[in-house]
Order: sequence, then C-alpha cells, then structure tokens
Amino acid sequence: MQLKDTNHLITGGSSGIGKATAELLIAKGARVAITGRDPMKLARVAEAMGAHAIHADVAKESDVKRTYVEFLERFERLDGLVNNAGIGGGWAPIDELNMEAMRQVYDVNVFGAAMMGQEAAAIFKKQNSGCLINIASTAALKGYAKGTVYSSSKWALRGMTQCWQADLRPHNVAVTLVNPSEVATAFGAENREERTAAHNKLRSEEIAHAIVAAMEMDPRGFIPELAVFATNPW
Ligand SMILES: NC(=O)c1ccc[n+]([C@@H]2O[C@H](COP(=O)([O-])OP(=O)(O)OC[C@H]3O[C@@H](n4cnc5c(N)ncnc54)[C@H](OP(=O)(O)O)[C@@H]3O)[C@@H](O)[C@H]2O)c1
Repeated sequence: MQLKDTNHLITGGSSGIGKATAELLIAKGARVAITGRDPMKLARVAEAMGAHAIHADVAKESDVKRTYVEFLERFERLDGLVNNAGIGGGWAPIDELNMEAMRQVYDVNVFGAAMMGQEAAAIFKKQNSGCLINIASTAALKGYAKGTVYSSSKWALRGMTQCWQADLRPHNVAVTLVNPSEVATAFGAENREERTAAHNKLRSEEIAHAIVAAMEMDPRGFIPELAVFATNPW
C-alpha cells in the first residue's frame, strides 16, 4: 500500500518496536494512533512523534471496543493494525509452571491480540482492504527451556495469524506475522526503561523497517511471515 495519508493503529506504541514503527509510518506521511497502559508515557511519546494517543489495555475487552470507537471518530477509516503489545513472564521449567503468570501473558499476547484482530477484521471486510501485522517472536518458531508461557503464547499468535490469512484473503486483506529475534527495548524490564542499544543486538528500527516493508507491498500480494535476526549477535 502507498502509506501517505493512510491511517494506522499500533498497540503498545509508547516504547520499543511499536514506537519505532509509529515514527517510521509518520515519516512516510501516514496518520497513526498508538495505545499503551502508562498514560503519562503514552501522552509524552505520542506528542513528540505527532501520533494520537489512546490510553487502553488490550487485555480489557471494554478498552479494545473503546479504542476502535476513538480511532474511527478521529480517522474515519482504518488501513492498518499493528498488533504489537506484548509482555513476557512466567519464565520457569514446566514443573514450576505458574498458572497465574500464564493467564496474564495469554490475556495480553493471545486474547488481547485476538480481540484487536477481531474488530479490525470487521472493518477491513467492510472496506474490502486492510493490512494486519501481528508481532510474534522467534520464540514462535522454536521452544526453549523455561519458555512454556511466553513461547507458547507466541506460537498461539502464529497459529491465529495463519487462520486470519485464510479468513481474510478473500476480502483483499493482507495479514503478516513478524518474528523478531532479541531487540534492545524495555521488554521484560520491571522499571519499563528502554535498554541501551548494543552493537550486536537488533534495534527497534530493524523491526519497524520489516513491518513497514511488508505494509508497502502492493495489495495484490502479501508476505505471510518473516523473521528478523541480528547478523552478528556474539
Ligand atoms: N524486545 C524483544 O527482544 C522482542 C523479541 C521478539 C518479540 N518481541 C515482541 O515485540 C512486541 C513489542 O515488544 P518491545 O520489545 O517493543 O517491548 P516494550 O519496549 O516493552 O514495549 C511494549 C509496548 O507495549 C505496551 N503494552 C504492554 N502491555 C500492554 C497492554 N496490555 N495493552 C496495551 N499496551 C501494552 C507497552 O506500554 P506500557 O509500557 O505502558 O505497558 C509498550 O508501549 C511484543 O509483542 C514482544 O513480545 C520483542
């Protein structure tokens, strides 16, 4: 799609990958709304980049509904959803699985993404156009020790993405899964501060580039899935 003058909704746009994606879309002439849980950070980041802030938690159904009401009141149509909000947690071997942590992670990474996708899909079907990007992880490609909770949540998102591709292709809607490897962000940081970039780690900019490249393809085609790794992570 030609991004200039298009309208996009990015969940978790107040830091890391979502923030870098919003900045890149705005630089290309698109209009963007970002969501997040911390209202002060969200307002500050949105104002600095020229995005619209919608204070909303993807894990809450009422917040998801309100997000779309606010978005459509302001922008009238939706061209792209980036389902990016995600959390880690519950890192433990299987015999120490914490079900409460698993529910919290699934509420955001799986059920939150599903609710956001459901609303976007209804809009896209009416428009007969749209672009939906789900941000999973290379943890959706291979499991690892202590990863039951997070890795399985991203496998679930990957599975949903393939279902949505089948559901929405007949409606001219492009659905893409993006799987980043490790990126220096605030992910997993209790103080929610962004980690400083390291020469051997991915930056949010590489993931934003991949997301926007998938979106920019002519709507006749779509990229089902892509992964991004650091060239030299050692
Ligand atoms: N960083 C990595 O190494 C890496 C690797 C692979 C995949 N990913 C995935 O990439 C996505 C973005 O992560 P990131 O690294 O950019 O992390 P981040 O810097 O922690 O940013 C996460 C963003 O999501 C928001 N958020 C979290 N929970 C939310 C919720 N329930 N509702 C709405 N917004 C919420 C955060 O806002 P608040 O701070 O206000 O909560 C923040 O804006 C996630 O899905 C993550 O799983 C990250």
